[in-house]
Amino acid sequence: MSGGLFITLEGGEGGGKSTQAKKLAAFLTARSHDVVLTREPGGAPGAEAIRKLLVEGASNRWDGMTEALLHTAARRDHLVKTVWPAMGAGKTVISDRFFDSTIAYQGYGHGLDLATLRALQNIALGDFKPDLTLILDLPPRVGLSRAQVRGGTETRYESMAVAFHERLRDGFLAIAAAEPGRCRIIDADHDVEMVHAAIVNAVSTYLGGR
Ligand code: TMP
Repeated sequence: MSGGLFITLEGGEGGGKSTQAKKLAAFLTARSHDVVLTREPGGAPGAEAIRKLLVEGASNRWDGMTEALLHTAARRDHLVKTVWPAMGAGKTVISDRFFDSTIAYQGYGHGLDLATLRALQNIALGDFKPDLTLILDLPPRVGLSRAQVRGGTETRYESMAVAFHERLRDGFLAIAAAEPGRCRIIDADHDVEMVHAAIVNAVSTYLGGR
């Protein structure tokens, strides 16, 4: 699977990850990268079927460990069917979320043991990691009100308490502090173009140093 580049975008609700992932894909395509834009949960037919189970319905539909197992099963399918083949072909893969979301949401958010979650990722993925992770950070109340404006049926996580979202924000910041080589925090409490400029700066610096 080596050859290509794997960039992930992470963060809480309403931080504009999907918009920013698209803009980053366009930026890198214009610089001759062969880009595959994908997302989690999802990114392959089987993983998208699992996504529906995870993002729809009542907030207490699954307990934390069941959620972690479903996300991790979807992730394995996404890697096997989409990410690894694309990287093997030398492509640049941009994923809207990856395993840091499991640590932040199911670990920090739902309180599952972090070492157990890391071991689970290791069983499913080996030691595979993103080359670069951009963590879009903003206060949960701002993000949740943006997500509410968006509407739709995928509201299961948005309907969890603000305290849950505060904990997972702390989780993302702790991940970034623990892995400064891989992770960059992007202040997402700005307009789309400003956030895009910060992302372009982080990615260009990373690519320049490779
Ligand atoms: P999205 O809204 O960014 O598409 O993500 C769907 C939801 O899934 C979002 O609320 C975050 C949640 N999620 C987890 O709880 N754990 C995970 O491992 C992933 C990938 C997403």
